[in-house]
Amino acid sequence: MPHFHHATDHSYLSVRKNSFFLDWQTQPNAFKCYPHFYPRFSIEEYEELDELHLIGAITYSKEYPSGNHLLRSVPSAGALYPCEIYIQIRSIKGLLDGVYHYEPRSATLVLLHELNKDGVEYSFPHQTQQKGLIFLVSTLYFRSAWKYRNRAIRYIFLDSGHQLGAISAYLELVQHDFSIGFDFDKLALNEAFGFRNDELFTLSLSTHAPSDKMVTKLTQKLPYVAGSDYLENNDFIQQAYTQSATYHDNPISCRFFEGVDREVLREAIVQRRSIRAFRMESITQEAFEWIMHGIVAFANAHDIDIFYTIHRIEGMEMGLYQNGVLVASGDFSQKSRYLSLEQNLGGQSAFTLYFTSHESQKYQKVTILSGFIAHILYLRATIKGIGCSGIGAYYDEECKAFLKTRNNILYLLAIGK
Ligand SMILES: Cc1cc2nc3c(=O)[nH]c(=O)nc-3n(C[C@H](O)[C@H](O)[C@H](O)COP(=O)(O)O)c2cc1C
Repeated sequence: MPHFHHATDHSYLSVRKNSFFLDWQTQPNAFKCYPHFYPRFSIEEYEELDELHLIGAITYSKEYPSGNHLLRSVPSAGALYPCEIYIQIRSIKGLLDGVYHYEPRSATLVLLHELNKDGVEYSFPHQTQQKGLIFLVSTLYFRSAWKYRNRAIRYIFLDSGHQLGAISAYLELVQHDFSIGFDFDKLALNEAFGFRNDELFTLSLSTHAPSDKMVTKLTQKLPYVAGSDYLENNDFIQQAYTQSATYHDNPISCRFFEGVDREVLREAIVQRRSIRAFRMESITQEAFEWIMHGIVAFANAHDIDIFYTIHRIEGMEMGLYQNGVLVASGDFSQKSRYLSLEQNLGGQSAFTLYFTSHESQKYQKVTILSGFIAHILYLRATIKGIGCSGIGAYYDEECKAFLKTRNNILYLLAIGK
């Protein structure tokens, strides 16, 4: 596993020695806004883009003494929202073929560049034109690093994974096939989009409609627009990103909501929230199996091992499970609470998952996919009326010792009532 992952481990001691003080007045703005003179198009006016706003919609407003916090259809570590979404659009009735930026507050698309014979496909292995939509997710890492410092290297990928989950859920809702891609020239595209090391592409997702027409590289470099009111560089994060950005990988096609009623899925996307405290009620085995259906197989196919501790599921033995197999019986709820930095969520859940991997070459991919799978689980739990919360704060080495694995720990997720 890359050294930068270890360098950001939490331990019992490191957490207590950390004297970093956070002044909430200094939180960077979480909405990138291109200047007013760029043409803007309201998503709701385009029939073929029905429901597209759900990829990052504001779904809740929480009042704090410091002001309103706008929460979105995606969860985010610390609600800091480092991700931005760009969409290359071809062949949508009434819209110019072009590269657009998505603005969640107004549900609009901002036209950044009109396409001719060029396209972002140039940075993909096939370099052939794709009709439909190509989503590119970036992260403005300072929004996370402002609070989490170097450990934000993990959160920008996990948050990207949740963003991927939200885009894929929208595409399943509108019944589009899609494929997820990590193998593209992210560094060249960062440059082409005018990012100055402060914003970094992490993944792509395209709807299927390939042709054999070649495209050229974007004819125009997009201008730099600062993604926040202020930004600070972090050399550690920039280097870690650059070191791990390039690797070969096959596109991934998947579906997780087959057979789910459209309205039910839509409701779950809009209603999804992170639970803040469990009532410590049991869930049924049927609900557990429905939520987890196909998850371990998908994770294993992409080098992710999933462990979970079961605390309160009717008809299921309490214990520690590895990839679905019971490896130690017993009540490990207090252990999972302790390991998640003594957060009650970890122990009061019906079950708590640990996403782990030995993969180092494709570190970005396995971390992003952990966030992606977690997002699918959030939505499935929501459909069943069950709560869920991501847990990005945990004692790394102690988790490994408990799970008896040399894999690195990428993410925890608590699910229950
Ligand atoms: C990568 C990640 C890590 C998170 N870690 C924690 C955590 O350690 N503890 C916690 O209580 N919530 C955690 N959360 C939940 C966020 O606090 C929550 O998503 C955010 O406040 C927005 O609220 P919402 O999910 O209800 O929209 C995490 C979420 C993500 C995506």
